Amino acid sequence: MITAHTRLVGLMGWPVSHSRSPAMHNAAFAAAGLDWAYATFPVKPGGVGAAVAGIRALGMAGANVTVPHKQAVIEHLDQLTEAAQRIGAVNTISVTDDGALLGDNTDAPGFVADLREHAVEPREHRALVLGAGGAARAVVVGLAMAGCAEITVLNRTPERARAMVEALATPGVVLRAGGMDALAERAGQSTLVINSTSVGMHPHEDAMPCSPEVVLQPSQVVYDLVYAPRDTRLLRYARTHGARAIGGLGMLLHQGALAFERWTGVTPDVQVMRDALTSS
Ligand code: ATR
Repeated sequence: MITAHTRLVGLMGWPVSHSRSPAMHNAAFAAAGLDWAYATFPVKPGGVGAAVAGIRALGMAGANVTVPHKQAVIEHLDQLTEAAQRIGAVNTISVTDDGALLGDNTDAPGFVADLREHAVEPREHRALVLGAGGAARAVVVGLAMAGCAEITVLNRTPERARAMVEALATPGVVLRAGGMDALAERAGQSTLVINSTSVGMHPHEDAMPCSPEVVLQPSQVVYDLVYAPRDTRLLRYARTHGARAIGGLGMLLHQGALAFERWTGVTPDVQVMRDALTSS
């Protein structure tokens, strides 16, 4: 129940009506006995500055930020975490003790947390990342921060992959970039393949980010950031080659759990969040 003391957080994006985050967070607030509520706010492109002013004016406890505002929101915030700075995108805003708005990115550690939950340790893998958008940037920064020493980024538009790799240069990490024509060769040399493009996402469920001449190995792990549908064509393809297939719902879960902790200072019940996600 909403009371006079309820602390409000919510998701700013366009569109947001399909989001599963309210179900996930409100279930976790209830389970933790916290008088908090999570709502969605449809914020049109260009409107994120006014929305951030709203956080301040209304005394909200924080927010999540999604497409198309993750980069545009930065100039309206007071401080950024190192992860948000490196990725150049914010998905979580929290309010510091002195009232400043702090931009963070929990996509990168959320991705790594989900890998580790599946007993996949980034340090032990040679990674191949498909895509060079915001999601790919979070994946590459997460992998590099977690000690993955070899990361190749391939993208339909190779210049974008090259620019990203240049911007994310990290001591001790071999970062390569290229176009999708290198996919068959690079896939053979990688042990962890990650789709961070939007290919295969509802309603284009028949699409796959790699062509059938790419042969996957039983020893490989294939992670698809796409979580709608839960079982993508890429994941089914990986399984037919005997590879391990992991869908993106766990990353959504863990970025949410980390945001919850940033806002409330309380560690959420991740199982409650998972149940809410899978039943919504
Ligand atoms: P996000 O922030 O969710 O990562 P984005 O920045 O729009 O979204 O990036 C989308 C990614 O999916 C890009 O890597 C894009 O490739 P381009 O940089 O060449 O546009 C990739 N992508 C989208 N549709 C694609 C398609 N049909 N085939 C191959 N790659 C595609």
